[in-house]
Amino acid sequence: MAKLIFVLNGPNLNMLGKREPGIYGGKTLDEIGEDCRKTAGSLGLEVEFRQTNHEGVLVDWIQEAGDKAAGMIINPGAYTHTSIALHDAIRAVAPLPVAEVHLSNIHAREAFRHVSRISPVALGVICGFGPQGYIMAMHALAARV
Ligand code: DQA
Repeated sequence: MAKLIFVLNGPNLNMLGKREPGIYGGKTLDEIGEDCRKTAGSLGLEVEFRQTNHEGVLVDWIQEAGDKAAGMIINPGAYTHTSIALHDAIRAVAPLPVAEVHLSNIHAREAFRHVSRISPVALGVICGFGPQGYIMAMHALAARV
């Protein structure tokens, strides 16, 4: 059976396509999900692609990934910068390999985006490459799982 990669997206990412296209680009989250599925298929992986605006739901899904997935890609949106709950959830599912992805380069933006609560517990971080970052992360995880 193909190994499963959870791809989790946090708050406001359902608005991609209309949300600040100058920063986040014109692709919708559905289109990014489709690209992830295609890439995963070509790598012999399966994808569970989800989005929620709720922090606790992300915690539930990270725990579920710990039970079911071989790896996880997560773009936690603004919870990246605030959420100790997500940090703890990722620690709790160690050694599940986790790739943190951001469409924008968070280090080139406002100071409050320069800190990530997720990076210390992620295997690696990709930011600033737009939707391509998800594809890069899929390749990185494929080499690990
Ligand atoms: C983001 C960056 C975050 O700072 C922001 O709150 C988001 C999206 C990104 O993908 O660039 O919602 O995670």
